[in-house]
Amino acid sequence: MSALRLLTAGESHGPQLTVILEGMIAGVPVPTDALNRELARRQISFGAGGRMRIERDQARITAGVMAGRTTGAPIALEIANLDYSAWADREIAPMTIPRPGHADLTAAVKYGYRDLRLGLERASARETAARVAAGAICKLYLAQFGIVVGSYVTAIGEVEAILSEDLPYPERLERAEHNDLRCPDPAATEAMRQHIQQMAEQGDTVGGVFEVVALGVPPGLGSHVHFDRRLSGRLLGALGSIPAVKGVEIGPAFANARLPGTQVHDPIVRDPDGTLRRRSNRAGGLEGGITTGEPIVLRAAMKPISTTRTPLPSVDLSTGNPTTSRYERSDVCAVPRAAVVGEAMVAWVLADELIRKLGGDSLEEQLPRFAALRRSHLADLPMDNTPWRFGYPGDTS
Ligand SMILES: Cc1cc2nc3c(=O)[nH]c(=O)nc-3n(C[C@H](O)[C@H](O)[C@H](O)COP(=O)(O)O)c2cc1C
Repeated sequence: MSALRLLTAGESHGPQLTVILEGMIAGVPVPTDALNRELARRQISFGAGGRMRIERDQARITAGVMAGRTTGAPIALEIANLDYSAWADREIAPMTIPRPGHADLTAAVKYGYRDLRLGLERASARETAARVAAGAICKLYLAQFGIVVGSYVTAIGEVEAILSEDLPYPERLERAEHNDLRCPDPAATEAMRQHIQQMAEQGDTVGGVFEVVALGVPPGLGSHVHFDRRLSGRLLGALGSIPAVKGVEIGPAFANARLPGTQVHDPIVRDPDGTLRRRSNRAGGLEGGITTGEPIVLRAAMKPISTTRTPLPSVDLSTGNPTTSRYERSDVCAVPRAAVVGEAMVAWVLADELIRKLGGDSLEEQLPRFAALRRSHLADLPMDNTPWRFGYPGDTS
């Protein structure tokens, strides 16, 4: 079972989002502004729609943090929906035309909704604000061990960032914080901006690709011993759970698939201090479902925003007649915002794994254990090479 459990609740136009994060150890400092800073990072983006001009997300912690530190009790958070007052008690005609690319039709068929809004309200990516707030706490926990999770955008539609392999990850993350497309390549950023503008003018939308990286992660998180303990699968699943994310890879996985093995697998080398490292990181920081100690690099593909100003073919479920989708206020491009959600999901998975790995209930207990884990990074060489007999108990053949 996961050490950390995360539950979110709340509709897009309900009064608030509610988050419960259970299993966080005691003693982690939680400055309130750290949560709000993360929430603001999810809101800022070129291509964001009108809703983000209304909301000014603020997290209110109502349990599990006292005197600025986690207590070990479940952490409860609320984020108010400022848009709620505009919707409360308003009479709204049932929505009967499903929008292609949304959960409108699938949720209605599954839950028997007669008004598609019931599906829309919870399927909306508004819920991702709740994940970002919980992820902020996970990031604060990871920061205690020097682990940083960040993200940047590498493509918007057909416009690709050009990032030299020599551009260090901290520099990429730093640059990403300085523009509203989270792109570390200034030339590409301008082209991306123009592309989004052009899509908006055409009544269309656009997707893209973002990368989430985790730096300072020690070797030995995750496991090869069972499918659901493979960290690779957990991270892929966590990013794939973000609305509109339809593809995820670890390192350059799809490019690796097209290359011979000798050009893909990272050579193992020994540093003068005895540390075993990989000379390259095409494995994206994971081998056998276990962290290698190199940066974890994950890449996610986000489909274009489903709500297009240009109508798309659909069927009116109240008449059965063909018609076209109706437009409601929407983002044109949400890739930079999804990248921040990606950070939260990765931080949550890594925090869960680290809590499980280190055990104990408080930061005080965990910090020395982490230091010992770091020391074990140094290979204990030479290995014992005494021959042994392969067999199982009772096997006499
Ligand atoms: C941060 C973020 C913001 C989003 N904003 C919008 C939006 O404004 N309009 C929209 O139609 N879809 C938006 N989406 C995408 C939809 O939530 C998503 O396309 C829809 O739920 C269906 O995706 P699915 O097939 O992956 O579930 C956003 C997604 C994310 C992650």
